[in-house]
Amino acid sequence: MDRPSKLPQHVTLIMDGNGRWAKQRGKERIFGHYEGVSSVRAVMEASVEWGIKYVSFYAFSEENWNRPDSEVSGLMDLMGKAMSHELPTFKKYNVRFLVLGNRERLSSGLKAEIEKVESQTKDNTGLTMILFLSYSGKWDIFQAAKKMAQHLIENPDCTLDMDDFDEYLVTRGIPDPDLLIRTSGEQRISNYLLWQTAYTEYVFTDVLWPDFRRNQFLEALEEFASRDRRFGKVK
Ligand code: FPP
Repeated sequence: MDRPSKLPQHVTLIMDGNGRWAKQRGKERIFGHYEGVSSVRAVMEASVEWGIKYVSFYAFSEENWNRPDSEVSGLMDLMGKAMSHELPTFKKYNVRFLVLGNRERLSSGLKAEIEKVESQTKDNTGLTMILFLSYSGKWDIFQAAKKMAQHLIENPDCTLDMDDFDEYLVTRGIPDPDLLIRTSGEQRISNYLLWQTAYTEYVFTDVLWPDFRRNQFLEALEEFASRDRRFGKVK
């Protein structure tokens, strides 16, 4: 049946292999990123159809700023255009769109684009789709620790427990991912959601991101459905 048998509440994807996909075809790397947007759309549409509540994508890491200027500007341009282009689809499918990461490094044009799409979808109640942009896990933990320290300086008598730390991360209010999928055969976390993936299931596939569409997504969800999650306990 063309439907996953058990759904994660939050699935997150590390989209890897766009450059290799383009190179295999004798094209520039940016061509792979453009094709990768169609994979994002395919995953979003399937998530809406199957009733997944949260889907997120690692679109650009803090480390990706070190790529050649032409690739960085091509990617930023692509992301601005893609989110504006998808706005009518977000509205049609009742999708809430969020961008999380270090916005200080983004251009004012892209920031304005993001704010427009976020504000026009903020009341949507279906799928929440998140783009992690200029994000890294260590950066998130560090900025959260700084904010928490400031709070403690201002409120020296307050008591905090470990769950309170979640409130300082950029992902506050978003459930931790149940499933993380990484494409292109690489098996590493690459400074992604370090705090939030403590009990996440990992699925790695050799498929390159531009070839990752509905069927490949379904296969990963079936792999997730077969896992026995114990969260460190005995069943
Ligand atoms: C990794 O492939 C991919 C990226 C760094 C960028 C992914 C971004 C998108 C597909 C844009 C999505 C945007 C929206 C708004 C839908 P890579 O370049 O590391 O590939 P390689 O490992 O083969 O070099």
